[in-house]
Amino acid sequence: MLLNTLILSVISLQLCSAFHIKRNLNGSDDSIWDYDDEDKKIQGVTFGGWFVLEPYITPSLFEQFGDDETEIPVDEYTFTQQLGKEEAQKQLDEHWATWYTEKDFKDAKNFGLNLIRLPIGYWAFGLLDDDPYVQGQEKYLDKAIEWAKENDLKVWVDLHGLPGSQNGFDNSGKRGNVTWQDEEENIKLSYKTLSYIFGKYGVENYTDTVIGIEIANEPFGPKLNITELYEFYYNNYYDFRVEQESRNTFVIHDAFELIGYWNHHLNNDYPNVSKPFINDELHDKGLSKNYFHDIVVDHHHYEVFSVEAVKESPNTRAQNIRNLGEGIAKEQEYHPSIVGEWSGAITDCAKWLNGVGTGARYDDTFNETQLIRANSVNGTQESLFKFKDEKKSCENVTYYEDFSDEHKEHIRHYIEIQLITYENTNAGWIFWNYKTETAIEWDFKKLVEKDLFPHPFDDYKYFYKNGTQISESAASSTTNSFSLFTITLIALVVSFIIG
Ligand SMILES: *[C@@H]1O[C@H](CO)[C@@H](O)[C@H](O)[C@H]1NC(C)=O
Ligand SMILES: *[C@@H]1O[C@H](CO)[C@@H](O)[C@H](O)[C@H]1NC(C)=O
Ligand SMILES: *[C@@H]1O[C@H](CO)[C@@H](O)[C@H](O)[C@H]1NC(C)=O
Ligand SMILES: *[C@@H]1O[C@H](CO)[C@@H](O)[C@H](O)[C@H]1NC(C)=O
Ligand SMILES: *[C@@H]1O[C@H](CO)[C@@H](O)[C@H](O)[C@H]1NC(C)=O
Ligand SMILES: *[C@@H]1O[C@H](CO)[C@@H](O)[C@H](O)[C@H]1NC(C)=O
Ligand SMILES: *[C@@H]1O[C@H](CO)[C@@H](O)[C@H](O)[C@H]1NC(C)=O
Ligand SMILES: *[C@@H]1O[C@H](CO)[C@@H](O)[C@H](O)[C@H]1NC(C)=O
Ligand SMILES: *[C@@H]1O[C@H](CO)[C@@H](O)[C@H](O)[C@H]1NC(C)=O
Repeated sequence: MLLNTLILSVISLQLCSAFHIKRNLNGSDDSIWDYDDEDKKIQGVTFGGWFVLEPYITPSLFEQFGDDETEIPVDEYTFTQQLGKEEAQKQLDEHWATWYTEKDFKDAKNFGLNLIRLPIGYWAFGLLDDDPYVQGQEKYLDKAIEWAKENDLKVWVDLHGLPGSQNGFDNSGKRGNVTWQDEEENIKLSYKTLSYIFGKYGVENYTDTVIGIEIANEPFGPKLNITELYEFYYNNYYDFRVEQESRNTFVIHDAFELIGYWNHHLNNDYPNVSKPFINDELHDKGLSKNYFHDIVVDHHHYEVFSVEAVKESPNTRAQNIRNLGEGIAKEQEYHPSIVGEWSGAITDCAKWLNGVGTGARYDDTFNETQLIRANSVNGTQESLFKFKDEKKSCENVTYYEDFSDEHKEHIRHYIEIQLITYENTNAGWIFWNYKTETAIEWDFKKLVEKDLFPHPFDDYKYFYKNGTQISESAASSTTNSFSLFTITLIALVVSFIIG
């Protein structure tokens, strides 16, 4: 109800100003990046853990709070809250200046990558009244885009954290409940932030480098009011294309809906679907004919965020990826899509991967309830639940130094089938993440250095280029006992988090 008023006002706002800007209403022949072009496949990485802290990417920032995990902040919100503005500012200024530097852009280029995805939270641009966050990220985002340009890299700007949290993950800035749609001020600030981003980074003088703006990372569809999410996507599309006159690529995350879910949305061929979300007057003017263009759907794929997934054999994982590829291939005629997050992870054992104070599914020390705990300081303190099963241990699968050769093979095997599949079936891939302090399965740089990530990217050991496995050597002996359909569903629906 709260939102109705707001959406009405957004729409009437649109009506008032709808007819004086015409440039982008009918599509453009000059896309700044053609995601359908075979020669323009995205081979990218995310520079994560920079403007949005993630405990598992930079645990050292969180270790200063001691060993008692109930006392350690769980996200950037509680990090800044517990340190206070002054100390948080000091530490984050230092972090922004050092975690990624110009050298990383140079190195990324030398690795053969062509795109950097840059996650940033709304709080870099505007704050809610009681936010503890500190600011200063924007200057570094601007530098990052400059460094990318100097090194002939393209960029996606990605709004990774929305007010109130669009998913409840620590990587949204605020772990716990999904309250983004609960308050009008959250939605207002979201629109305002995106308008600013569109108007600044979506415009002509950035189009030689910025080739996509992702409006909301991983909004958690199953917990959100999906109608209001549609409205948010459509209203922002209008703002982007018409108000801010951007001809850039409008990137939407799939919101954890099944592959194909967005085919008819934001699509000129299905006015029956879009009509409720664009006002009648625009519709009657024939806007819908070519109104939607340069829209890309972003899928994220991980196979470690369900109890079933961490039990999979290499063959099962490979087959899941092939199945995913088949599904994604069928989408391309509607909107180009991309696997904009994936990793080499075959367990969820990396320290704090699931969040500070949580365990791992792999060794049965994880309980979803732990994630509702936002912070410990005077908060809704809950004890940690650890149900250690001595038969399954993270002991030899957490740090690279302890990995067996077989474990290393399995990681590379999983990475190879993903590279092959994503390049063959869609507009490309963006690996999560470029680097971490200790979580190698999520660390492009270390994986390449340790020869667990093919380099060049098509230097496959375990597969032919058509995705057929060369031998059974990497795939162990084990079975395919889960129903592939079930696994794929689980992987798609449940395999969230991280980015
Ligand atoms: C958009 O297309 C319609 C119908 O083809 C045409 O009447 C209109 O003039 C076009 N608008 C612009 C801005 O090119
Ligand atoms: C982009 O263009 C706008 C207006 O034309 C200008 O204000 C802004 O400084 C430019 N930004 C860059 C990075 O050149
Ligand atoms: C979702 O939002 C729409 C639009 O505001 C509203 O009409 C509908 O009742 C909401 N649905 C639920 C389940 O709250
Ligand atoms: C829109 O129309 C298409 C056929 O043109 C149909 O397949 C689809 O189910 C319709 N969608 C809705 C939401 O009505
Ligand atoms: C998780 O912890 C909650 C709170 O203690 C408990 O009620 C629930 O049974 C636990 N779930 C599992 C699967 O162990
Ligand atoms: C999330 O919601 C539950 C249920 O309303 C509440 O008990 C819990 O304290 C909330 N967690 C946070 C972090 O706000
Ligand atoms: C927690 O409570 C103590 C004592 O009431 C207070 O001094 C402190 O500022 C509180 N901390 C936070 C983060 O609210
Ligand atoms: C870890 O590796 C060591 C050395 O190979 C071995 O002795 C130990 O049993 C392994 N632990 C687990 C839990 O697999
Ligand atoms: C894939 O390529 C290999 C080697 O060229 C070939 O032997 C195999 O038959 C191919 N598989 C398919 C399904 O085309």
